[in-house]
Amino acid sequence: MGCASIAQRSMIPAISAVPEWRLVAIASRSCEKAENFAGQFNCDAVVGYENLLKRNDVDAIYMPLPTGLHYEWITKSLMAGKHVLAEKSIAADYSSACRMVELARENNLVLMENFMFQYHSQHQFVFTMIRKGEIGEVRVFRANFAFPPMNKSNFRYDEKIGGGALLDAAGYTVRAVHFIMGDDFVVKAANLYHDPELKTNIYGGAFLDNGKGISAQIAFGMDHYYQCNYEIWGSKGKITVDRAFTPKPDYSPLIVLEKQGERHEYKMKPDNHFIGSIKEFHRTIVSGDREKHYHDVVIQSKTLDDIRRLSENHAYY
Ligand SMILES: NC(=O)c1ccc[n+]([C@@H]2O[C@H](COP(=O)([O-])OP(=O)(O)OC[C@H]3O[C@@H](n4cnc5c(N)ncnc54)[C@H](OP(=O)(O)O)[C@@H]3O)[C@@H](O)[C@H]2O)c1
Repeated sequence: MGCASIAQRSMIPAISAVPEWRLVAIASRSCEKAENFAGQFNCDAVVGYENLLKRNDVDAIYMPLPTGLHYEWITKSLMAGKHVLAEKSIAADYSSACRMVELARENNLVLMENFMFQYHSQHQFVFTMIRKGEIGEVRVFRANFAFPPMNKSNFRYDEKIGGGALLDAAGYTVRAVHFIMGDDFVVKAANLYHDPELKTNIYGGAFLDNGKGISAQIAFGMDHYYQCNYEIWGSKGKITVDRAFTPKPDYSPLIVLEKQGERHEYKMKPDNHFIGSIKEFHRTIVSGDREKHYHDVVIQSKTLDDIRRLSENHAYY
């Protein structure tokens, strides 16, 4: 649903590459765009998102629309009986996330947020190193995601349709905290800088704590030197992942393990996390195991809301 750049570059090729899925149709608000995409990917062109939802041969929707449009179109998709994989951020706020999850649950449909980085094998290597005690007891997690300015016509600069660094860049770092460190991390402090002319939040940071002495620090933004990494610091060492969130399918990420007087570099095998994500969507549909992704949607939007709320005393314009 929507001829988005991320769909064209990465997700539709992944959908087309796996036997679990058959690409039936692509919908756009524009006839020209729908036909152009449909021609490229050998499927039907549909004009108008509503018309995609009327089709009986569509079981599931991939939705790369700006976040501000998700509530309307996720709700309509679920009411039409379709499973939904929506791009991040799936929800503009916690309360709409809860309503969407409730609707999905009532209808026994999958609702999943597309944070594909979780399906890259490099993180399994990190989990194994931690389990083996390579860095001792884990004490601190730090994650950064930021990118240089884009064209100002990009929807990311329009908060009315879900733009802003919080719903975009911060989303990755928040998901990383919960994915790598666990769900019990709560936001204790946050700040957010808003561009006075664009009236959009552009960068910020937050401090989270799990109530057991382990902290997480995140930094995010969209007017920056590119950053896309995390580090886990333990009592005996530190693990750093250099391209944590957006490794391309042909990229070999570098994982560095440092201990007193030692440094080890591990070049990971390339992996296609777009394929991993679309396979997970299929697995969730056929297994009937919906709750994990509902839970992830709720905890993610709650944490982003908490950052927004706690930054109110530390908001800069
Ligand atoms: N998971 C990831 O790694 C990743 C990476 C990049 C982006 N994303 C997410 O994917 C989504 C799309 O990002 P993108 O960079 O690919 O965006 P994009 O190229 O601008 O595509 C967004 C699409 O949404 C549709 N749309 C409907 N109403 C719109 C409106 N008022 N303004 C703008 N677009 C509208 C358009 O499709 P039609 O004109 O065809 O209707 C447009 O092509 C965002 O939620 C973003 O956060 C995820």
